[in-house]
Amino acid sequence: MSNRTFTMIKPDAVKAGNIGNILQMITDNGFKIIALKYLQITKAQAEKFYEVHAERPFYADLTQFMSSGPIVAAILEKDNAVADFRKLIGATNPAQAEEGTIRKKYATSVGENAVHGSDSDENAAIEGNFYFSVLERF
Ligand code: GTP
Ligand code: MG
Repeated sequence: MSNRTFTMIKPDAVKAGNIGNILQMITDNGFKIIALKYLQITKAQAEKFYEVHAERPFYADLTQFMSSGPIVAAILEKDNAVADFRKLIGATNPAQAEEGTIRKKYATSVGENAVHGSDSDENAAIEGNFYFSVLERF
């Protein structure tokens, strides 16, 4: 297992004013911020990022939503980062997310669910490389 994962604070959570709250939860839970950026991606960039979901019925909604406003992207470091971060964010559908998780606190629906977390070490590396050069990692 590697010790890095990748996250985005999604447009819903940014709009709701929860960037600070979510970054605080992330660092309080022992994740170190290796790279961080505040930006808006285009629809085409969202389609590229979520290519693995291209055949899913929610692909159009998802890529529309993720390009609808600014996001915060970050690479995070901790032992067992991918699994521990998935635990911290909670279930995809906030109605099923456990108490104390980021999605339980800040997500409003399965589509607008506040944060992204990589699902494997391999995808964490691919996703981090999508947003950050080596010069942007500390
Ligand atoms: P991410 O960390 O964002 O990748 O979420 P996840 O790994 O918990 O879920 P998954 O990778 O299966 O889906 C990616 C994203 O697509 C989810 O976070 C949701 O934002 C969105 N999504 C998944 N299922 C649905 C759905 O049924 N409807 C809609 N509108 N969006 C969905
Ligand atoms: Mg996923």
